[in-house]
Amino acid sequence: MRVDVIPTYQSVSEQNLRGRTVVVIDVLRATTVMITALHSGALRIVPVDDPGSAALMASSLDRKDVVLAGESEGIRVNGFDLGNSPLEFTRDHVKGKMVITSTSNGTKAFLKVTAGAQVYLGAMINRRAVAKAAFEAKNDITLLCAGTDGAFSCDDVCCAGAICAALAEWDDGSIVWNDLARNAQLVYRSWKDGTFSLENTTHYSRLMKLGFKGDLDFCFREDVTDLVPHFENGVITV
Ligand code: MLT
Repeated sequence: MRVDVIPTYQSVSEQNLRGRTVVVIDVLRATTVMITALHSGALRIVPVDDPGSAALMASSLDRKDVVLAGESEGIRVNGFDLGNSPLEFTRDHVKGKMVITSTSNGTKAFLKVTAGAQVYLGAMINRRAVAKAAFEAKNDITLLCAGTDGAFSCDDVCCAGAICAALAEWDDGSIVWNDLARNAQLVYRSWKDGTFSLENTTHYSRLMKLGFKGDLDFCFREDVTDLVPHFENGVITV
């Protein structure tokens, strides 16, 4: 079994997807938000490329059944019901509803992975559960980091490393890791033992400056749910 970590959705190739189990990771914050929304009882999530298309889709549906969500530069899009903070996706807001969401990188990553054999959502909050689902599917695995604006994002790589560390527990020596999968495990272990901090990394520090410390803490809690949502035919469900 091969396990490849890919640093950005812009750098994923057909070869990384075809016949593989793909885990999309946008730990800050899109995949954490989506898993949380489904955990809070949302029926399904539709990831959309841009806020205008999301608003158009929502306006064509019965608005009482829909939550229109998303961010631009980290902040809730003007006129949208919710932003992209996992703390907002409570049962009161999303239970029994469809969430249509557009975010800067995470939702775009999903639109690139339709060729995967299975596409799962990965985050710290479901790290062990998603690793188990991916391992049990028995295909080669691509952990696709959404990245930030086309660049490698350390938060996503740390999360990919956390998922690799869980996979490594079941490895009988037959897993072949790509270089970033090896490196991501080092980042995760250093983060875990406190010798490396995400605080000065680009996206993490930007969210901190915007006042989202609560989101950062939420997104970096490990193994709080066994939910492993999947993406199929444009829709994310459990
Ligand atoms: C994204 O899609 O780039 C992120 O989820 C941005 C954010 O933290 O809101």
